[in-house]
Amino acid sequence: MYAQLVETGAKAVKTLDQMEPQERAFQERINAGIKTEPKDWMPEAYRKTLVRQISQHAHSEYVGMLPEANWITRAPTLKRKAILLAKVQDEAGHALYLYSAVETLGVTRDQTYLDLLSGKAKYSSIFNYPTLTWADIGAIGWLVDGSAIVNQIPLCRCSYGPYARAMVRVCKEESFHQRQGFDIMQALCKGTPEQKAMAQDALNRWWWPSLAMHGPPDELSANSAQSMAWKIKQNSNDELRQRFIDQTAPQIEFLGLALPDADLKWNEARGHYDYGAIDWEEFFNVVNGKGPCNQERLAARNQAWEEGAWFREAMSAYAAKQEQSDMQGAT
Ligand SMILES: [Fe+2]
Ligand SMILES: [Fe+2]
Repeated sequence: MYAQLVETGAKAVKTLDQMEPQERAFQERINAGIKTEPKDWMPEAYRKTLVRQISQHAHSEYVGMLPEANWITRAPTLKRKAILLAKVQDEAGHALYLYSAVETLGVTRDQTYLDLLSGKAKYSSIFNYPTLTWADIGAIGWLVDGSAIVNQIPLCRCSYGPYARAMVRVCKEESFHQRQGFDIMQALCKGTPEQKAMAQDALNRWWWPSLAMHGPPDELSANSAQSMAWKIKQNSNDELRQRFIDQTAPQIEFLGLALPDADLKWNEARGHYDYGAIDWEEFFNVVNGKGPCNQERLAARNQAWEEGAWFREAMSAYAAKQEQSDMQGAT
């Protein structure tokens, strides 16, 4: 999930008869599958939850450009460079759609963005890991964008209209990202023993953080029930994690790579893959700012903000001038 640990502020999910008439009418529309639009009445907790979730998602797209941009100048061929450039550019686009969706909830884009720069807002834990070799670019597309698709397809049916609609296009682009990652892995696995070893190493390092992307286990997800009642979320974290593992384990075998987890085995009775224990302590550390690259990522984003000051000033000066000449023209 590009948004992990989203607070809903709700202690318990209310039943319809515990609600005031306005809230009940809102919940009944949600239950009937009717989308909520920016001008519709909505409970304050629903609005705040969406602001937290969509802004976290936007920040993840935006910070997520950094580990991959690190390899644009070092891509092995011109074709790979052009593909990676397009992919990183798509992620900037995803951030823009999502920052716009947050604005429809009454928060300014500047405020949302400043919350990222100050370290107040969170973004997905996955982007605080380093990209050490070219195979990491393959593993990110395949596993990280692959996990993102599993999480984001249900968001296309989310109850908030602007978020759901943004997700439709995002998901189409994510599937291109996933395929380009798998294609890099395939090329490396068919290459020299050194290239295959590089692919294996990248898989081993990215596997566990990709599983943690889906968020804490259901028994630790205090906010899931309310998000599901509001139909912001459609599936639990464990359900989505299992879906990702079930679709990815056969791809690992297809590539001829070793499984990165000794407990990863098909369970005939469950009809799913079993998997080993995820290190949740590491996950909470990374989310709370103590991952290998947290400081580097925030420093890069702060630097970009400072270096862009001249451009923002020029745009504001141009807009003011335009407004003045429009006013003169009107008189
Ligand atoms: Fe994206
Ligand atoms: Fe992507």
